[in-house]
Amino acid sequence: MAVRKILTYPDSVLRERAEPVTNIDGKIQQLIDDMADTMYHAPGIGLASNQVGEPCRIIMFDISGKDEPNDLVVLINPEIIEANGVVVNEEGCLSVIDYRADVKRAECVTVKGLDREGNPVTLKREGLGAIVLQHEIDHLNGILFIDHISKLRRELYKRRLKKLLKQKEAPKL
Ligand code: NI
Repeated sequence: MAVRKILTYPDSVLRERAEPVTNIDGKIQQLIDDMADTMYHAPGIGLASNQVGEPCRIIMFDISGKDEPNDLVVLINPEIIEANGVVVNEEGCLSVIDYRADVKRAECVTVKGLDREGNPVTLKREGLGAIVLQHEIDHLNGILFIDHISKLRRELYKRRLKKLLKQKEAPKL
């Protein structure tokens, strides 16, 4: 179990399409444990494997409330098989620092994939669960939530980020 480094935009690894998992072995179990540690440590409510630099198709999320027990859902090779309705909600991302924006998503999705034991599962989620599923599956396809906003707003964010990163690099005297 270990907290891994989360890659952040504009890291090019986040832009690659991740490859399906073909063998759910010990290495994959280790990765899933590390991803969970990383997500809860951040803290975040969802994480995709390529955000920690592993270009395979694993997502997880936990949208349980503050006072509720953890409810971790892990999906390997997830695929959206049905999407209905439209919802707009403010999103952020562990890989997109210091930014949130309204994103239009399907209101309800059905996703199929495998659980961490390799059993086929089908999830139907609406609301936040549906949003998180779409956001994390986007990651596996090299897509970030800022790709869903207007070009102008994206450019403004890029400019602000550049300044922010420059400030961070500046030597502290
Ligand atoms: Ni994200």
